[in-house]
Amino acid sequence: MAPLPSATQASVKPPFWLLAELTYRCPLHCAFCSNPVDYARHDQELDTATWKRVLAEARAMGAVQLGFSGGEPLLREDLEELVAHAHGLGFYTNLITSGIGLTEARARALKEAGLDHIQLSFQDSTRELNDFISSTRTFELKNKVAGIIKSLGYPMVLNCVMHRFNLPHVGRIIEMAERMGADYLELANTQYYGWAWLNREALMPTRDELRDAEAMVMAYRERGVSRMKVLWVSPDYADAKPKPCMAGWGAVFLVVAPDGAALPCHSARMLPGLDFPNLRDTPVREAWVESAAFNAYRGQGWMDPTCAGCDDRHTDHGGCRCQAFLVTGEAAATDPVCPKSPARGLIDAVLDGARHRAEPASAPLRFVPGAAKAGGLVFRG
Ligand code: FES
Repeated sequence: MAPLPSATQASVKPPFWLLAELTYRCPLHCAFCSNPVDYARHDQELDTATWKRVLAEARAMGAVQLGFSGGEPLLREDLEELVAHAHGLGFYTNLITSGIGLTEARARALKEAGLDHIQLSFQDSTRELNDFISSTRTFELKNKVAGIIKSLGYPMVLNCVMHRFNLPHVGRIIEMAERMGADYLELANTQYYGWAWLNREALMPTRDELRDAEAMVMAYRERGVSRMKVLWVSPDYADAKPKPCMAGWGAVFLVVAPDGAALPCHSARMLPGLDFPNLRDTPVREAWVESAAFNAYRGQGWMDPTCAGCDDRHTDHGGCRCQAFLVTGEAAATDPVCPKSPARGLIDAVLDGARHRAEPASAPLRFVPGAAKAGGLVFRG
C-alpha cells in the first residue's frame, strides 16, 4: 500500500497511548501470555538512549499515557531512568508488572523517579492455580509485592486474566483484591493471541461459566460495599459483537516492541504482508503517520462491503484484524465474532467445543518446575 497523500496525513491524529514493551524476557511462563510465540527472534532490545528518544518524540506528538510493559519490565536495569525521563516529559506513567523483582527499595526508587501507577498481575486467588498457570512459584511473592505497592501509596490495579480454570473463583478473586486494598480489579477475559492462541481450546470457558462469573461481578457492584472498582473485560468469542480493538488500528495506541518495531497492537507483527517500521531508524511521526503498515487498516477505506455498509463501523472500527487473520486466514476479513461474518460459525464451534468438553475445569493441577506442558496447556518459554 502506498503512503498516504499529504492532505490525508494531516487528518491522522497523534497516538494518545504509548505502550513501551521494554523486553520480552519474563520470569513467568503464563499459558495465556500475549507475547509473540516467536519472541526469541526479536531479542535485540533498544538501548536506553533510543528509548529516551522514542519517548520524547511520542510525547512531542501528543502522547499522554505511557505503559511500561513486557515481558517483565523490571528486568530492565534502566527502568528507573526511563521512568524519570518519561515523568520529566510529562507522561502519566504506569508500570505493568508481574511483581517479580519489585523489592521495596526498587518500588521506592520508581516512586522517586515519578512513577504514577502500578498494575500488578495475579493469576488466581489460590496458590495452586496461580503457580500452575504461570508455571512458577510466585503466589506468595505477589502477595508481598501488593503490600509494598500499597504501603508506598501507589494507586494499584490488580489484573487477573480469566479463563475456564479461574472463572469459577471470581468471587474469591474479588475478595482477595479487596483484602489487598486494590483500587481497581481488572478481570480480563483471555484474548486469544500469542500463547493463548496455542492454548485456546484448553482455556476456553463455556458460555454458562462466563455468564455465572459476570453475574457475580454485577452482584458485587450492586452491593456497593467497597470503593474498589471491578472492571469486567468482555470475552471476545462469547460477545455478540466484535470489540473495537485498540479503539481502531493506528488511531489511539502505539505499541513499541522490545526491538523497536512500531506496532498498532501487540500481535500485529504476525500479520502477513505488512512491513512494520523500526524506531531505531525511523522517527515516531514518520512511522505513525506515513508508514504503509499503520495505514493498512486505518479508518474505513480497507473495509469489505459487510463492514463498509454497517452502521456499527463507527464504534467497532471493524473489530480486530489479528482475530480475523487467526480465525479466517484473512486479515481484512470481517471480524469473525460479528454475526454478519460468514465465519461466525468457526467462533461458535469453539464455544460449543467448550460446552462439550468432558473433563471438569477443577481437575487437580499441579505446578511442575520446568515443565513445557501440563494439564493440556503449553507454557510460554
Ligand atoms: Fe491486533 Fe486486534 S489485536 S488488531
